[in-house]
Amino acid sequence: MSMTMTGFISLRQVPRRLCRAVWETIPSPVRQTPLMFRAGRYIYRKFTRNTVRLQTHYTHFMRNPPLLSVIEALASQFPRDAQVKIASIGCSTGAELYSVLYAIRRVRDDLRLTAYGADISDTVVEVARRGIYHPDVPAAQGSAYAAGRAEVASVDVSSLSELLQPLPDGSLRVRDWLRQDITWLTADATDDSLQDLLGRQDFLLANNFMGPMEDPLAERCLRNMIRLVAPGGYLFVDGIDLDVKTRVLKASGLRPVLTSQEEIWASEGARGGWPWLRWGREPLNRSEADWAIRYSIIFHLGDR
Ligand SMILES: C[S@@+](CC[C@H](N)C(=O)[O-])C[C@H]1O[C@@H](n2cnc3c(N)ncnc32)[C@H](O)[C@@H]1O
Repeated sequence: MSMTMTGFISLRQVPRRLCRAVWETIPSPVRQTPLMFRAGRYIYRKFTRNTVRLQTHYTHFMRNPPLLSVIEALASQFPRDAQVKIASIGCSTGAELYSVLYAIRRVRDDLRLTAYGADISDTVVEVARRGIYHPDVPAAQGSAYAAGRAEVASVDVSSLSELLQPLPDGSLRVRDWLRQDITWLTADATDDSLQDLLGRQDFLLANNFMGPMEDPLAERCLRNMIRLVAPGGYLFVDGIDLDVKTRVLKASGLRPVLTSQEEIWASEGARGGWPWLRWGREPLNRSEADWAIRYSIIFHLGDR
């Protein structure tokens, strides 16, 4: 395939779907060549990056298993009986925070966990607080943004039995041992006073809500999230524009955690479609100058 960068200028006149269909006929090994990667980056920046900035409430139990395994390993490093503070910002209906608490509590039941779940929509915060879900039905229906897919699929119910208790009406309720010591609240992640409200956290989850923001707001919001990380703590940040993330984190003093980087990056099948979809996952490319930051989701603030 000998496409030049200037060849892509004509894409403006050609329907995107057709271009995408042609792109998808290109064999995977060819798509992984440096030339095709650069072509993909060009398409993304020029034609995709500024398309639909769609905020949703989509969240899912045990969404990224390799990420949860690394969280377990990081939690294992805390001293016995330590107090550990966790916050999920943009928590939606709570599946992310409950999954992380499950991952940590099952390996370290001695830790004294306190958690915050915060979202700008009070409707989803209320759903999170109730902790009741229906298989194959998104619990965020009727809230501020599109609900997205369900928090739990019926095929996964049996594998989630330690986390979700089936109720007689067919719904699923988060088990009591995972509901303790969580404060659910309505809050705006871009609000500079968030640190006064929550304090600094050992695990700060800031996933999948900064991507739809305009760049200046996303940058400000990410800086606000960084301020919430305690010394020695970890920031988890995904679903954000990679240029914004790289720019802000490079100057932040936080260091990328590279454990299982590839597995974590590849884990979510729903993020296919790069470079044609805004949410599409850019392929991990270690020849990029800032690859360690660009393709990491976990960052560590030193000095515990
Ligand atoms: C796609 S969901 C992500 C849920 C969860 N963090 C996850 O990754 O599974 C994004 C959530 O962020 C919330 N959100 C969007 N903008 C926000 C803001 N400025 N402050 C707090 N929450 C926000 C939305 O209401 C939505 O529930």
